Amino acid sequence: MSAPLLALRGVRKVFGTRVLFEIDRLSVDEGGAYVLVGPNGSGKTSLMRILAGLDREAGGGMDFRGAPAAFTSYPERLRRSIVYVHQHPYLFHTSLRHNLEYGLRCRGVPAAERARRVDEAIAWAGLEPRRATPPAKLSGGEKQRAALARARALEPELLLLDEPTSNLDRDGRAQTLALLAQLRDERRTVIVACHDQEIIGLAGFTRLRLDDGRIALQSG
Ligand SMILES: Nc1ncnc2c1ncn2[C@@H]1O[C@H](COP(=O)(O)OP(=O)(O)OP(=O)(O)O)[C@@H](O)[C@H]1O
Ligand SMILES: [Mg+2]
Repeated sequence: MSAPLLALRGVRKVFGTRVLFEIDRLSVDEGGAYVLVGPNGSGKTSLMRILAGLDREAGGGMDFRGAPAAFTSYPERLRRSIVYVHQHPYLFHTSLRHNLEYGLRCRGVPAAERARRVDEAIAWAGLEPRRATPPAKLSGGEKQRAALARARALEPELLLLDEPTSNLDRDGRAQTLALLAQLRDERRTVIVACHDQEIIGLAGFTRLRLDDGRIALQSG
């Protein structure tokens, strides 16, 4: 049995007079893998940004492990627990290793533990051959995998991925898809916003559909 990791309550996003969406209730199970689908402009990115505390103007809130939080006063504890990976992730112009280590250092993770997590994440993402390659020289698919590895190394309680396969060729998509399947198998709680039919069709991913201002669980 899965327990809810978070339960959204009355999430409302408005631009001027336009109501983008209103979500009365939605539960996300601990260890669950979800895809967030919906037409362009339905609000997938906006919703993920709200969940990650990147939008302080959204209405409503959520219970996270039973503790209530409003989006207008997003708690620091959640900032560390929920990690959002942008559709076009930014990598520092340093080294791959530094990119993965930076967030861990900011969180005060001790050096030996940082090294362990970085090594593990680089291996997980299949980037060992690129360890010494400056991020600017990585391919699009490698950059995307580096961003996934960087997020995974933080060991978030909820991972939000925004269109992780957009702009990737066939091989790049296949590699990223394999990482998504691994996250599912590792029982990481993950929500992936996408239009990619292959991700949408991945076994074990529950579909959430955002459309016309409402969200619904969709089967099949
Ligand atoms: N700051 C803003 N001011 C006004 N409207 C905005 C703002 N940010 C986003 N929007 C609008 O909100 C809507 C939802 O955008 P959002 O990026 O969340 O959609 P999406 O579902 O992620 O779309 P896509 O599938 O194209 O990525 C769009 O119509 C967008 O133009
Ligand atoms: Mg989007």
